[in-house]
Amino acid sequence: MNNEMLLEIAEQYGTPTYVYDLEKVREQIRKLKEAFTYSNTSILYAMKANFNPHLVQEILSQGLGIDATSPEEVNWALMLGADKNSVMFTGNSMSDSDMREVHEKGVLLNIDSKQRLKDFGEKYSGSAVCIRINPNIGDGSHSHTITGGEESKFGIPYQEIEEAVGIARNHHIRIVGIHHHIGSGWLNMDSPLQALEIILEAASKIEGLKFVDIGGGYGIPYKPEEEELDMFKLGERMSNLFGDFSNRYYQGNLELRMEPGRFIVAQAGSLLTQVTTLKTNPGGRNFAGTDTGMNHLIRVALYEAYHGIENVSNPLGELVSYFVNGNVCESSDFFNKESRKLPQIRVGDILRIRDAGAYGDSMGSDYQMRLKPTEVIVGGDKHFLSRRRSGITLSGYETQNLNLQSQK
Ligand code: LLP
Repeated sequence: MNNEMLLEIAEQYGTPTYVYDLEKVREQIRKLKEAFTYSNTSILYAMKANFNPHLVQEILSQGLGIDATSPEEVNWALMLGADKNSVMFTGNSMSDSDMREVHEKGVLLNIDSKQRLKDFGEKYSGSAVCIRINPNIGDGSHSHTITGGEESKFGIPYQEIEEAVGIARNHHIRIVGIHHHIGSGWLNMDSPLQALEIILEAASKIEGLKFVDIGGGYGIPYKPEEEELDMFKLGERMSNLFGDFSNRYYQGNLELRMEPGRFIVAQAGSLLTQVTTLKTNPGGRNFAGTDTGMNHLIRVALYEAYHGIENVSNPLGELVSYFVNGNVCESSDFFNKESRKLPQIRVGDILRIRDAGAYGDSMGSDYQMRLKPTEVIVGGDKHFLSRRRSGITLSGYETQNLNLQSQK
């Protein structure tokens, strides 16, 4: 997506607008498929990263399944054409109704506590299930995105695998899959490889598995100085380790599953926004105020995340230091934590906030009742409107006790 196209999109659809590039999504999927040389590998896209239906259908058309995190995500995936056998529901703090609703759809549940495993066994004796373990290793781009290790609320501790197997046996349920997800946004190979060794050790204590699911978490370089993950090296190493295990216990027939979200969609997405207000405080700090905010992209406020920012309407301007802020009444409403040198910003300029395709709109909220941004899909040199701006309506409220005024 070059600047000319981004300006055309901003002009045609307005701002704020999320733009998603399908070609980048395809490229990332290709990388994953080529990197994991183990022949029986399946990729389930972690839909929590971005549930835009046009993106999800593109991803499904590349042969991926779906990692869903709520009954709503399961329904969304099925509605968009996912095969129920390639969808898995990973529930944390799963309720009886989550369990019932998803199981009745014929979608496999990934259960992350012994108590829920018992509950499942009591209700659905004879059924198949996947169990999530905590390999006691965690990694991620920020402490909030680490999901393994001693402090984590996720999974059954791997040391308790025999107990879990006992529960399944007593309730006549079949453990067909074992899963872990150590965290999100890591860029090293040590933790995922160590975790793989642990999950395989745990897997050796279960009979009759169909797959081992190693979760997602593959990071992308958000900062200019960050190096890309060597996906080919990691894929090869994991494939070799996994292949040995599969040959030893399953005549090479065990399925390797993974659940990347960010790696597939982060770099494909940008948030386009227009600058509305410029201000310099007495200390010389320059603020560039935009027509979007932390309600649309919360990663900076929540994880102190870094996102590249470009001034697409004045790319050759003289470099000046800025803090780029949103229009939300909160002090954490910024898109950069440290001042950043950007080509001079003028009121009306269009900025591109990069790498916003994962956990951007999907974590967006209705806070302060602003509408969610427009979403536009780019395929080659064409683009189309995917979603109009939308927000809170009265449709979910009981209106009979309200005294409503028509807006003049
Ligand atoms: N599988 C499970 C069970 C997960 O919980 C997650 C992410 C994934 C797969 C996909 O992880 P990924 O490949 O996208 O890293 N909001 C945070 C990330 C939280 C991820 C939550 N779980 C962020 O914006 O960085």
